[in-house]
Amino acid sequence: MTTTPADLELPERVADWVRISDWADMNAVLRSPEVIQGWGREAPYGVPWFIERHLAELDGKEHLERRKMESQLFLPTALTIYEEQDVKPLIAEYVERWRAQPQPDGTIRVDMAQEVFKLLLRMAARVAGIDGVDTDEQVAEVQHILDLDNRMRTGAMSALTVPEHEAVVQEAYATRQVFREKYAGPSLARRRALFERYQAGEIAREDLPLDVITIMLLHWDETWDDDLTMSEALMFIGGATGTTKRTVCNAFKRVTEWVAEHPEDRPLLEDDDFLRRAIDETLRIDGVLPFLVRRTKGEVTLPSGTVIPPDTGIVLLINSGNRDPEIFGDDPDLFDPHRTAAGRVRGYGLAFGAGQHACIGRRAAVGAEGITRGNVMTILSTLLEEGAEFIPDDPPVRTRSYILEYDHFPLRLAPLS
Ligand code: HEM
Repeated sequence: MTTTPADLELPERVADWVRISDWADMNAVLRSPEVIQGWGREAPYGVPWFIERHLAELDGKEHLERRKMESQLFLPTALTIYEEQDVKPLIAEYVERWRAQPQPDGTIRVDMAQEVFKLLLRMAARVAGIDGVDTDEQVAEVQHILDLDNRMRTGAMSALTVPEHEAVVQEAYATRQVFREKYAGPSLARRRALFERYQAGEIAREDLPLDVITIMLLHWDETWDDDLTMSEALMFIGGATGTTKRTVCNAFKRVTEWVAEHPEDRPLLEDDDFLRRAIDETLRIDGVLPFLVRRTKGEVTLPSGTVIPPDTGIVLLINSGNRDPEIFGDDPDLFDPHRTAAGRVRGYGLAFGAGQHACIGRRAAVGAEGITRGNVMTILSTLLEEGAEFIPDDPPVRTRSYILEYDHFPLRLAPLS
């Protein structure tokens, strides 16, 4: 099943914003200096943001400086260390855990919607610099605050009665306090102690962890406070998990369906170049983040001639732009891992956005060619190597959402020979 632009039900907060679906217009909006981030800092329905002042919300010079600082985490050396020291051992731990829990009939069944998510959240916590997110309960606790924040940001609140609304806000405050006390506070204290030892010349820069909180300590700005490190870390965890989980599940479905229909391509499942193309094509067509939001500062005239007045909310329908036949060729609604995009356009189109806010974690997700494979390919190829397949009487169940993702994605692993 695909999410086509026609399926797309937008969240209520943006339902009446200007919609852009043309490839050239979309690129122009994303790169325009007259356009800023769309959710804004003013909370709808009087509900405060719980994750605020982070990179994805900033604009202009402040954004550029924070982004430059955090980009260090995605340089080839950092990515290689991350893949070797965090990603691979965590995946191996999960495979062992799945294999240790056979069904009564000896088969191994795993709900990848849950398991891949947990694995990714733990991987993301390492990048963010949040320690102690190891057990399923701890993962669920961190996930809960991200869910609440997302709910408030996108505005799924207005249908609530006043007492219900108040209850959600109180819950969010309480959850944030738990996160501060249990996770963010101790993680920050540990990094501060290491940073002080580094400043005192007792340890080298290489002995410091490679994560968001440590990078912030190394470039501390007097206007920041401890809560900002918490917000920044949470935003990275949020940005890295749902997106990657969707891509892993969608890509698994796409490639297995593809080789079932094109058995001659089955040997290519062991070929990184083919998997990379299949992942790019999945990202293009399955709309991991099906829309992005922006707001105009001044008047903006788009390549199509459309004029957007100042202070207007814009919804960029990425799924539509990513199906432009002039860019992606014939039958753009079909999945085809052998597809080549026009010119210098990458196969995933606008799946990682474009312009100053384009995904900073793209290389962590889909690799740096010739250097790292990226989280998606590493997990996908592990599933394929483990002989994972769908279970005929237990098919995947889609989440009721405008996003193509799954609540339930059961796979059976091949028995060990
Ligand atoms: C397949 C996986 C991923 C997809 C499809 C994806 C997609 C995106 C998109 C479309 C944006 C732009 C949002 C906008 O313009 O408003 C974005 C931004 C961002 N992503 Fe990703 N992302 C993925 C993985 C990751 C990972 C692994 C990380 C971190 C390790 C990450 C961290 C971020 C951050 C911090 C931003 C904000 C950048 C900024 O505003 O300057 N993402 N992502």
